[in-house]
Amino acid sequence: MTTQRAVIKKIAQSFSGGRWLRGYIQGKLTADPVFDTALTAVQGTSGMIVDLGCGLGLLGLFLYFHGHDAKYRGCDLGGWKIIAGINASNRLGHQLDLQQGNLLNFPLDNAEIICAFDILHYLPKREQEFFIRRLASAARNGSTVLIRNGVRGCGWRSIMTLLEEWWTRMTGWIQGGTINFPELKHLISTFEKERCQVETKPLWGKTPFSSYWLRVSSQH
Ligand SMILES: C[S@@+](CC[C@H](N)C(=O)[O-])C[C@H]1O[C@@H](n2cnc3c(N)ncnc32)[C@H](O)[C@@H]1O
Repeated sequence: MTTQRAVIKKIAQSFSGGRWLRGYIQGKLTADPVFDTALTAVQGTSGMIVDLGCGLGLLGLFLYFHGHDAKYRGCDLGGWKIIAGINASNRLGHQLDLQQGNLLNFPLDNAEIICAFDILHYLPKREQEFFIRRLASAARNGSTVLIRNGVRGCGWRSIMTLLEEWWTRMTGWIQGGTINFPELKHLISTFEKERCQVETKPLWGKTPFSSYWLRVSSQH
């Protein structure tokens, strides 16, 4: 078994909640390219990582067990996910700082890296605009903002992304009504108007989704 597979298995096995949840975690960590991309992006940094909409805190565990031991703090509205993540991290002997909270007002001070993975589309238009400006302001203040999100206008990939999102709502995996995928063009132009520099690339790996990666930093 490769080291990568062993790490993923160890993380998945640390979660209680049944075989379905452990299988989901193992599949997500194996197939979703965002984890490896984030690991590469944080290399050479040692400051705090704030993960907005962190879910189960998988990113924090993935980074730590790949040798990145900077402080990691995550927030999510989903209380059960936070508790599951804390319990799993305790079992693994590496306690994560996970808090139930809203990403619209979660503190960003002292964050060297801010991650916002697959969360923009949960926000209605006004909140999404507010949140993008909040991230831009953090970037101007010196943080590096890493975003990964499905986008509109990407043909069949956007349709598949929307179908997947409906499925998550129908099964109750994700609760909440809003499905508001942003346009990539709009994200880029808003960050640029906010005096940020943006690098983007597709990040769907072998998935059928319309996922893009954005790295946002200050223009100076
Ligand atoms: C698709 S999951 C992504 C989880 C994690 N970022 C990942 O990539 O594995 C989206 C998460 O955002 C959370 N979320 C949605 N709106 C939020 C808000 N306003 N504040 C905090 N978390 C939120 C949901 O509870 C859910 O866990």
